[in-house]
Amino acid sequence: MEILAKDTSFLEWSGDGLAIGLFEDDVELTGDLASLDEKFAGSIKELIAEEEFKAKPGSSIATRVGSGSSVRKVLLVGLGKKEALKLDTLRRAAAAAARLAKKQKSKTLGISLPVWNNDAALTAQVLTEGVHLALYQDNRFKSEPEDKGPQVEQVDLLGLGGQEAAITRANQISSGVILARQLVAAPANSVTPITMAETAAAIASEHGLQLEVLEREDCEKLGMGAFLGVAQASDLPPKFVHLTYKPEGTPKRKLAIVGKGLTFDSGGLNIKGAGSGIETMKIDMGGAAATLGAAKAIGQLKPDVEVHFISAVTENMISGHAVHPGDILTASNGKTIEVNNTDAEGRLTLADALVFTEKLGVDAIVDLATLTGACVVALGDDIAGLFSPDDALVSQLEKAAEIAGEKIWRLPMEDKYFEGLKSGIADFKNTGPRAGGSITAALFLKQFVKETPWAHLDIAGPVWADKENGYNGPGATGFGVRTLVNWVLSSS
Ligand code: BES
Ligand code: MN
Ligand code: ZN
Repeated sequence: MEILAKDTSFLEWSGDGLAIGLFEDDVELTGDLASLDEKFAGSIKELIAEEEFKAKPGSSIATRVGSGSSVRKVLLVGLGKKEALKLDTLRRAAAAAARLAKKQKSKTLGISLPVWNNDAALTAQVLTEGVHLALYQDNRFKSEPEDKGPQVEQVDLLGLGGQEAAITRANQISSGVILARQLVAAPANSVTPITMAETAAAIASEHGLQLEVLEREDCEKLGMGAFLGVAQASDLPPKFVHLTYKPEGTPKRKLAIVGKGLTFDSGGLNIKGAGSGIETMKIDMGGAAATLGAAKAIGQLKPDVEVHFISAVTENMISGHAVHPGDILTASNGKTIEVNNTDAEGRLTLADALVFTEKLGVDAIVDLATLTGACVVALGDDIAGLFSPDDALVSQLEKAAEIAGEKIWRLPMEDKYFEGLKSGIADFKNTGPRAGGSITAALFLKQFVKETPWAHLDIAGPVWADKENGYNGPGATGFGVRTLVNWVLSSS
């Protein structure tokens, strides 16, 4: 599928499906919209009246316009109230147009939507993202594709002539989001620590990044007892993956992105019981998937920033080799951890990943992890928890997420709650009381970052969308990639 920037107005465009964005304030059709309706012999007005179309955000309808016309179908996409227009409303509107065009078997689609904030480049970018992300269909595990009918082949962004660079940027970002979706959606017998390292190698060779993969023995030498403890019951070798993007000149900043990479989380000997969602725990590498997705995008966007992409990848399994609940592990910074719950494994793998990352001497670290069910209880399925002691980094990430259309919400790092992790025998335990579980998880991670500005995103909720929602779902969302990319670009 190709997305093109066109100067053509919707009055002149010809093709299969013409999608028009409509504000609630404008369903009466005036000006150019009235001319368009006239051109199609009043069929737009009829459609609005028949379907009682109110132009609510996310709503969309289609009708055939008379045969012999230069356009086969008109698609109307609701934009809500004019003064409430948000950037993401446009991304969602483009997604709705693309989904409806596919349903209506339109091979060519023209999209006419308002420009956001006089910023044609950003508008073209988000429309392109919306189209790619809505049309992406995962047929890898079907013996026959589910969508065999005609596909949308060409999308013209009307009135956005000259925005080719923005479209290219969005193509690159979307390729990263889609990679993350593919990694998260693939089951644990398909995406393993070995294939995650292979995916990193493919990114490195396609986009010119450096790759270092630490094997079990390398991790042993570095004293990564927490990560290796989690890995010790798996039949698969752990892989500590470190990709580096280096710009050509002197980098403006050095950043690091760290992702939790559990290709499956059984819970370990504190095995996940019935109703725990154990059958969905292939998603537990969503942080690593976002990290690799961001690497793929950054490798193409080539900003003036050095970026390290790190993930300690393994499975959390059971066997005679498994960590016993109560075992004490020593992390690579020398801290001893009483593992009072083997299902709190993500923070153990991240502990060693964060210690390794800080030694790289970067200016800031962001980690992403499907870390706690407690965060889902707090914020629901759509919003990630943001934890950080650093206000400046928080505001950078909030801005990046806003433009990305990804919802994040800061939660407190209440130091007092660290008392819940007190251990009678080791430096601390890996889990505290049930209450405030996502906060104690973040406080645990904080023990492994000494002085580098650091933020933690708990993405256990938004990594997956049960239902279709705008350009997301049903299924893996690729959450985090766009926020990370925007964050890196804002530092360049
Ligand atoms: N991977 C899970 C968290 C999770 C839960 C991700 C639901 C996605 C959806 C994590 O490793 C885990 O098991 N956390 C435990 C922590 C508890 C033992 C303190 C949890 O949230 O129950
Ligand atoms: Mn777990
Ligand atoms: Zn987990």
